[in-house]
Amino acid sequence: MTQRDGATGDDPQLRTGARMLELVDVHKSYRVGPVDIPIVKGVSLAIDGGEVLSIMGSSGSGKTTLMNMIGLLDRPTQGKVLISGQDMAGASADRLADIRNRTIGFVFQQFFLLPRLSARENVELPLTYRAVPEAERRRRAMAALERVGIAKRGGHRPSELSGGERQRVAIARAIVGEPALILADEPTGALDTRTGIEVMRLFREINQERGTALVIVTHDPHVADQCPRRVVMSDGRLVDDTGTFAHQVRPAA
Ligand SMILES: Nc1ncnc2c1ncn2[C@@H]1O[C@H](COP(=O)(O)OP(=O)(O)OP(=O)(O)O)[C@@H](O)[C@H]1O
Ligand SMILES: [Mg+2]
Repeated sequence: MTQRDGATGDDPQLRTGARMLELVDVHKSYRVGPVDIPIVKGVSLAIDGGEVLSIMGSSGSGKTTLMNMIGLLDRPTQGKVLISGQDMAGASADRLADIRNRTIGFVFQQFFLLPRLSARENVELPLTYRAVPEAERRRRAMAALERVGIAKRGGHRPSELSGGERQRVAIARAIVGEPALILADEPTGALDTRTGIEVMRLFREINQERGTALVIVTHDPHVADQCPRRVVMSDGRLVDDTGTFAHQVRPAA
């Protein structure tokens, strides 16, 4: 079902504190009319297996743009993205999609569940892309929904769920493929304080149980406080990094 190629969620090295992902002097600019507008301006960041880090920074500072490059959804205009030491620059779009599907789970502020599918079918999607047989898909989706505490809602469509429940479904979808890394872009931004705290507790439990690394973009200092490592972005650059592991790259302030 899964291949071993050194850059997948199956790689035990990704779970032992080894260097999982590295951005090396990454830039991103967008061409608007005749001009290139720089958005990310030289970010170097190393993330180890099992790390939990938050990214804060004002609106427009480039956090989502950076996350899209970490998540292999977008390529840098300059600089390198390494996964398990492998440079992703030469990888085809298909190969990036494959690595993304097996290595990374995504959670977004607006959940992005498909409205016509039930909660369980939404959770099954990453496994569908991997061609996992239907019975196993169902079993694993139900186990993931169980893990986030809403197995009873498996048959409901997203419109029949509360915001907190929808985010739990989105988290179940992110964990169902057992990724080494979860990227969450303002996962508590649409939730009330109490529900946001529950979602953060769930993330921390998943990190501790499975060694899943977590990168959480947030505007909420309370959410950032729950992350052992905190990084701050300003105008396309990393301006602060508390660090957790001795061998990580520290940006020049
Ligand atoms: N596809 C695009 N084309 C042109 N400009 C873009 C594009 N995507 C993002 N930008 C610009 O890049 C800048 C950074 O956007 P980004 O979404 O990364 O910020 P952010 O830090 O995530 O902000 P927020 O906290 O509001 O989500 C913004 O000025 C935005 O307008
Ligand atoms: Mg954003």
